[in-house]
Amino acid sequence: MTQNWPLVGRRRELSLIDEALNSPTSQGLMLAGPIGTGRTRLAQEAVSLAKAMGAVTHVVHATSAAATFPFGAVAHLLPPASSSAVDPARLLHETVRHLVSNAGTHRIVLAVDDAHRLDEMSATLIHQLAATRSAFVVVSACTGTLVPEPIFSLWKDQLIARLDVPRLTRDETDELLTAALGGQVDGSTVHQLWKLTLGHPLFLRELVEGGLGSKVLQQSEEIWRWHGPVTASGRLVELIEARMGWLDRSEHMLMEMLSFGGDIGVEVLNHAGAGAQLAALERKGLVVSERLSRRVDVRLAHPLYGEVIRTQTPARRVRDVHRLLADVLAATPARRADDRPRIIGWRLEAGLATDVRSLLEAADRAIEARRYPLAQRLAQSAVERGGEFPALHQLGRALIGLGRYREAELVLAGIPTEDLAENIRAHLAATRATNLYWGLGQHSDAEAVLSDTEQAASQRSTSDEVATIRATFRLHQGDCAGGLAAVERILDRQEAGDGTILQALIARTQALSTMGRTNQAIATAERGLELERHVAHAASPWGHVQLEAGRCGAYAYAGRLGAAEALAHQGYQLSLDQDWEMARSLFATCLGHVNRMRGLLRSAQRWLREAAALETDENLFRPVILANLVMATAGTGDLPAAKAAQSAAERALLHSSRLYEAVAVIARTWVAAAAGETSRAVELALEAAELARSRGQAHFEIIALHDAVRLEEARTVVDALEHAGSVAEGILPPAYVAHGRAAADGDGAALDQVAETFIGIGANLLAAEAAAQAFRAYRAAGQAGKALAAATRARSWVQQCEGANTPALAVLDEPESLTPREAELARLAAAGLTSRAIAERLVISVRTVDNILHGVYTKLGIAGRRELPRSIGLIVSRVR
Ligand SMILES: Nc1ncnc2c1ncn2[C@@H]1O[C@H](COP(=O)(O)OP(=O)(O)OP(=O)(O)O)[C@@H](O)[C@H]1O
Ligand SMILES: [Mg+2]
Repeated sequence: MTQNWPLVGRRRELSLIDEALNSPTSQGLMLAGPIGTGRTRLAQEAVSLAKAMGAVTHVVHATSAAATFPFGAVAHLLPPASSSAVDPARLLHETVRHLVSNAGTHRIVLAVDDAHRLDEMSATLIHQLAATRSAFVVVSACTGTLVPEPIFSLWKDQLIARLDVPRLTRDETDELLTAALGGQVDGSTVHQLWKLTLGHPLFLRELVEGGLGSKVLQQSEEIWRWHGPVTASGRLVELIEARMGWLDRSEHMLMEMLSFGGDIGVEVLNHAGAGAQLAALERKGLVVSERLSRRVDVRLAHPLYGEVIRTQTPARRVRDVHRLLADVLAATPARRADDRPRIIGWRLEAGLATDVRSLLEAADRAIEARRYPLAQRLAQSAVERGGEFPALHQLGRALIGLGRYREAELVLAGIPTEDLAENIRAHLAATRATNLYWGLGQHSDAEAVLSDTEQAASQRSTSDEVATIRATFRLHQGDCAGGLAAVERILDRQEAGDGTILQALIARTQALSTMGRTNQAIATAERGLELERHVAHAASPWGHVQLEAGRCGAYAYAGRLGAAEALAHQGYQLSLDQDWEMARSLFATCLGHVNRMRGLLRSAQRWLREAAALETDENLFRPVILANLVMATAGTGDLPAAKAAQSAAERALLHSSRLYEAVAVIARTWVAAAAGETSRAVELALEAAELARSRGQAHFEIIALHDAVRLEEARTVVDALEHAGSVAEGILPPAYVAHGRAAADGDGAALDQVAETFIGIGANLLAAEAAAQAFRAYRAAGQAGKALAAATRARSWVQQCEGANTPALAVLDEPESLTPREAELARLAAAGLTSRAIAERLVISVRTVDNILHGVYTKLGIAGRRELPRSIGLIVSRVR
């Protein structure tokens, strides 16, 4: 499979190669790059390019074995019956002549792979060929190695130019993996592979083959995903080992420390007396020092070095290295803030005695830094050493961070609470109830935990914390107004703690957004983010993400798609860097939603599939992820795929809160629409609107009513839409309302204007639908020219919508609009060509031309050819 990886990226490099091949002054190129960067492949592409240009091509593969005798690498190019016993100078001369005469009038292009391995005579031949302008040479060489002098001088004397082959970018890596595996690849898998390979295709190929072989790289729910940590396989290990070369004991030890310890301050290594080894390894290109503001850190030059060393180190040695790391860092006088938790972590790995207090302190920091696997190990050890409540609580939190909700519940439920202070008990209850509700979808159990705590509570602060969680639940049960009122009561009180206020602000953001009050939602989220900066992360581990996602949702609802997308991208990137699935799923959902609103239906599907694959059926957000996926899929008219997503959505809905019930009904609307059951679709849209209205979810109500407008049912819903729209904030709701009114009135000009508004917002699909409706309104009013212009615009917008195919667009395929043939003829006639001239150009009869043009006049409602330029001009000028 990997033999045939399609070429990805390299557009710049190929165009430079192409330019050089076509340049009369250029005699070649040197492709330079580190191991595995894709030099050989690029040289092959250069050869194909040269062949296509009619050149005679030769390929030379330099190897260490061939380099052991003169002319070894180019043996196949020597004239027949030649012998190395002859004078080498003569052989050189004869070979050049032989190649040139065989090529005749064609240009010779010679690709030389791994020029650093050429023997001197082969290198001299290549030099001769280029220097005498007998051949164009493409020479690949590994950076950091010595190339033979004749090749070096080609470049030094500027006979050939040097082209550095860059690593693949993250997006190119994604593209390559998608093509190689034949399907969408999970974002974190791409990210991890890219980080580990630094975009070197050779390493990528080895990792992928290893992953497929050991079945850790698997496809499920249409997404390829690497399960567990990414590890190097046998062949890759060999490759990397060869690159690292021989290391003496102390150099190897330093490599081990960096492999297990991560980046280490240069002062630590100097203090430990490893300065000389550091310098030696830097010279070999195996480690690098990097200045970060006031400090200098040392790290491995390639992450795969660490990977290989880790896989090869026996368990006992691993402990020794950790002990060494802990000792060395502890002995360094100048200490950094995060040294202590690092030392504790390393002591733990070394199997050394560690006291509970230190473990807990380190676990706390690890949770702050969202390093949940480390936090879990630290907390687990604290528990094993008799850490009791705080240790168990931290273990529970670390497990939640890892997405191991069920284990977290077992740990949290087992904590004896009798001796705990009341506020601590309340905090524990809040953690547990939140996990039960969000992680496990066990709503009544979550409520029960809160009630028990509330009954035992005597302090106001306890009931505040519990009341906030409860208000959030209430909101998610679909009682927006009730949830919001409860939250406002808490926010009005001065005494509530910061953690509680933060939770309340998160809930308020969500409630206001759903109610369509997006300006206030955004302001609330911003207030929360400001507060969040001062609150310990451990008090609200999800706070930041929830607020950012809430802000993103509000921007999108309001119609500020660019702002929403920027926030979602930022959040997604953060989630990748921190390998934080819960956040990734949330932001991938945001990106899916925004892309769908933009009409980018396939991109939306990709994001939403990625999000869905990260969530279990119990997760509260799964129904809304799948509902969006259903809508994006149904929007392309792909009924089977939409139905499949729909049944998954219905399954997930069984476990979910009722917050998104209306959205699920909207999703059903679009499946019915894709099935051509338009009246059923309208019924469902009205049902969704009613459901949302009864729950005070004005935003969902507006969306559902507007969907009815999109399904040509504007007259029925326009009053309700105007009413619901009057409370909503932002630029999008007024556009929905205007759309409803214009469609209900059948007012072409107003629909045109709505389409413009949608385009301004970036909602291309809605714009295309409104323009299609304008087309129909104009046509009904007999304004054929305007109708045609509207249809043309609608079509051009649909083209940007990645396969959109919704009922409102169907009108564009009706025969009253100009067919491509008619449009072509009309344009020619408008440009002044006679029927005969058109007939000659299109190789049809004059009579056919006249017949077609007659049809065009009828459709446009014009009298004849003289009016054509105006109508056509109108069409052309309105096309974007
Ligand atoms: N741009 C690319 N698109 C797709 N596949 C690529 C690309 N570049 C390289 N590959 C593939 O990655 C693998 C390794 O590339 P290649 O052999 O060209 O690397 P190299 O730099 O020559 O490695 P070495 O340092 O070992 O000589 C090959 O299977 C190659 O086809
Ligand atoms: Mg190569």
